[in-house]
Amino acid sequence: RQAVGFHGSHQPGILNPPPAAGMVAAFDVLAPDRAGLERLFRLLTGRIAFLMAGGMPPEADPRFPPADSGILGPEIVPDGLTVTVALGASLFDGRYGLAARKPVHLEVMRRFPNDALERDWCHGDLLLQVCANTPQSTIHALRDIIKAAPDLLRLRWRLDGTLPPASGGQAPRQTPRNLLGFKDGTANLDPTDPALMERHIWVGPEDGEPAWARGGSYQVVRIIRNFVERWDRTPLQEQQQIFGRDKREGAPLGLEREHDIPDYAADAEGKRIPLDAHIRLANPRTPETADSLILRRPFNYDRGVTRAGQLDMGLLFICFQRNLRRGFIAVQERLNGEPLEEYIKPTGGGYFFALPGVPDPGRYLGQGLI
Ligand code: HEM
Repeated sequence: RQAVGFHGSHQPGILNPPPAAGMVAAFDVLAPDRAGLERLFRLLTGRIAFLMAGGMPPEADPRFPPADSGILGPEIVPDGLTVTVALGASLFDGRYGLAARKPVHLEVMRRFPNDALERDWCHGDLLLQVCANTPQSTIHALRDIIKAAPDLLRLRWRLDGTLPPASGGQAPRQTPRNLLGFKDGTANLDPTDPALMERHIWVGPEDGEPAWARGGSYQVVRIIRNFVERWDRTPLQEQQQIFGRDKREGAPLGLEREHDIPDYAADAEGKRIPLDAHIRLANPRTPETADSLILRRPFNYDRGVTRAGQLDMGLLFICFQRNLRRGFIAVQERLNGEPLEEYIKPTGGGYFFALPGVPDPGRYLGQGLI
């Protein structure tokens, strides 16, 4: 039954270990005015709190549609569900008079050199990140919210992701592998370290952000296709040089264990770990780059087959950070031109701001903003 708590100073779905199923759904907001926006935030709060706790939906008169889709059975099981709400820059474009309250770094995601962004798979006024132990539960939650807000939300795009079962929230937790076969998440920030999270993930009082944004976090979503056919024909040695890690254990090249820390100063010429290896560019471990750490929470996705007859799969990359520029944008700028680009193509996603949490049942998501 495993239920994740909804109330707290931060939203769920950011620090808790990612379960086996993850989905992102981006919406246009249709609310006609600020009052409509408040209605939307109150409604989302109510639905999410209910869905995460689970329980029996009310019985409706059979002459009307049932209160619940029923796809989880008569009773809604929590199933580790989290629903995390984030806002895109377009919500602050003037429609609701919120321009002055926009998180200062929130902007529309721009194209990086290796991107081939598809308009239908980008941006949105509002993003829901829905995670649970099974896809049936993420779909159930999405359908519930869509049904509850037909006049307030229009779905723009959505993508489902998964993590291999060994990592699905059970102990002992292993680092999940991505679709290129490498362990993904080894050197991630430790979400159980509150001081580290204050420093790198949560917007704080000294950030020059609007007061309502404190306790929130910038959320980046990138749909990054993997050219797996090409990858599967690439020599192991080359694969490992591209990431800078050994494929089997996940250890940095030249070291033995997965969690060994590479010493780049001792390898200044890149003899062990190439200077352009993914992990070295992403985190050079220098004092100057110490503030560009991010919390990654990606899933693998599979969308079937492209029109060219190739497998359409890759990484549903998600990360959180206190400052979008210092975090994701700085890391991605360092990664631009990396050898991995031959095997990946970012095609969609967007920048969002994950709202602060709802501390108690008397309040609602986004209350300070309204
Ligand atoms: C590390 C894969 C995209 C940032 C890693 C690792 C792998 C990996 C296998 C090493 C294990 C680990 O520490 O997690 C991928 C793949 C990508 C991708 C397959 C695209 C399909 C990105 C993007 C960013 C990013 C877009 C951010 C802009 C990082 C960071 C690390 C990392 C910060 C940790 C480096 C360290 O601290 O040593 N990635 N990654 N990755 N990646 Fe990626």
